[in-house]
Amino acid sequence: MNDYTEEINRRRTFAIISHPDAGKTTLTEKFLLYGGAINLAGSVKGKATARHAVSDWMEIEKERGISVTSSVLQFEYGGFCINILDTPGHQDFSEDTYRTLMAADSAVMVIDASKGVEAQTRKLFKVCVMRKIPIFTFINKLDRDANDTFDLLDDIEKELGIATCPLNWPIGSGREFKGVYDREKKCVISYSGTEKGTKEGTATEIPLGEEALLREAIGGAPVDRLLEEMELLDGAGADFDLEAVQAGELTPVCFGSALTNFGVEIFLKHFLEMTTTPLPRRADVGMIDPGEREFSAFVFKIQANMNRAHRDRIAFMRICSGKFDAQMEVRHVQGGRVMRLSQPQQIMADERKILNEAYAGDIIGVFDPGIFSIGDTLCSPRENFRYEGIPTFAPEHFARVRQVDTMKRKQFVKGIEQIAQEGAIQIFQEYNTGLEEIIVGVVGVLQFDVLKYRLENEYNVEIRLDSLPYEHIRWIENKEEVDIARLTGTSDMKKVKDMKGNPLLLFVNAWSIGMTLERNKGLVLSEFSRN
Ligand code: G4P
Repeated sequence: MNDYTEEINRRRTFAIISHPDAGKTTLTEKFLLYGGAINLAGSVKGKATARHAVSDWMEIEKERGISVTSSVLQFEYGGFCINILDTPGHQDFSEDTYRTLMAADSAVMVIDASKGVEAQTRKLFKVCVMRKIPIFTFINKLDRDANDTFDLLDDIEKELGIATCPLNWPIGSGREFKGVYDREKKCVISYSGTEKGTKEGTATEIPLGEEALLREAIGGAPVDRLLEEMELLDGAGADFDLEAVQAGELTPVCFGSALTNFGVEIFLKHFLEMTTTPLPRRADVGMIDPGEREFSAFVFKIQANMNRAHRDRIAFMRICSGKFDAQMEVRHVQGGRVMRLSQPQQIMADERKILNEAYAGDIIGVFDPGIFSIGDTLCSPRENFRYEGIPTFAPEHFARVRQVDTMKRKQFVKGIEQIAQEGAIQIFQEYNTGLEEIIVGVVGVLQFDVLKYRLENEYNVEIRLDSLPYEHIRWIENKEEVDIARLTGTSDMKKVKDMKGNPLLLFVNAWSIGMTLERNKGLVLSEFSRN
């Protein structure tokens, strides 16, 4: 056992995902409140102007009410050191969410009880299921009229293909919300609208066995309904199985109301009981155990110009093993050199705290002079291994992009390249036509707006985007064997190259891909770039 094993073992690192407005921010605030990180829930981020802090560094987020960027928060609760990774609340940014999930050991999914799994989030949540990490569901806003509980669970199972196991069960909703039934303790925790922002709930626990008392407290009809629903659930619902939870196949579900602070602490306690300590990660030398190795980390996010006061570029990394010490030298494996990390910091809301030490499970941000890429590994100078890469999603929307003022070519190229390095967009060029036009590919169309906004605001370059009809992109796997110039596709196929010069093809539909393969025997196409 190292002297830091204990520190690692008390780390819990999770990502929080939700549809915009489902209550992710409110829930996070209440978590922080329990952890004593803030005194008044809401002072970290609220909708009131004075409280805009955590993630709305971009006007676009405010205008659309979605968070485009993600941030990291750390707090202490019950002896645990908890890292929350916030994620963008829109599926157009699901690639970013996927990267953030790579840095997390589990995920909390917040669902609005009156909406269920919403169209906009379907893809986002699926990304979470794809990662196969434990997912904990909080169904929020029970103080408002909610959908039928069975329907809500059904929705999750059908839409996301993951089994559900309710840990508690709501009794009514909206004005008729009486509380939740705790299935393990077999008691009802009654609801009374607690005061916004206070830590102390006024909930009372009444055992199910004490029926007379229960009827008096919450009314006869709700008790009858609860008993009926419990009978149904016991007959039909999935049994609790911690192994299935940890394999990401079964999601424990809690109900509550983040706004009135009901059910939040119960959820947090259950969550901490079931989630894991920092997990081992796969590298090219095998699995790396967090407690058994010296410092190692991987970069999962790069963000430039996060804060206007600091016009710099920050690389976010997840520490996967050992202890990080600000004075230590580390090996940047992909860069092939040993270095000291510059200005290591913990990015808390809009505050930055210089860090002296951190442990496996923690997220640190370091100043990046343009040397890091997403997926890079850092480790002790005595070691040399690489963590498995972070996949790049194939863009599904394409546009030709030009700067309006031709004199600003330099800024334009610099800006667009930097934004591409952050992984927010992918850029391509015409293949061998000599044209300098840039084609941008994105996973979700909102990323076009972000690109336009950022170029204007951060680089002072106005652009014009002309959308292109392509929806599919394929890299040419066997480019050495193929004469790209003579490749014959369909009339709507387009030959382009990525920033590394790799040739690839854009197609309008899947039929054209098949046709092109048929016409060019031996051609091997791939949805991913392997270079
Ligand atoms: P998000 O981060 O997922 O986008 O959601 P956020 O927490 O910002 O919550 C969205 C809105 O829903 C907020 O209202 C918030 O107060 C409300 N809300 C969150 N949890 C609950 C809940 O349990 N019950 C009810 N009734 N409302 C809830 P808003 O009017 O948009 O903002 P604000 O002025 O209240 O801050």
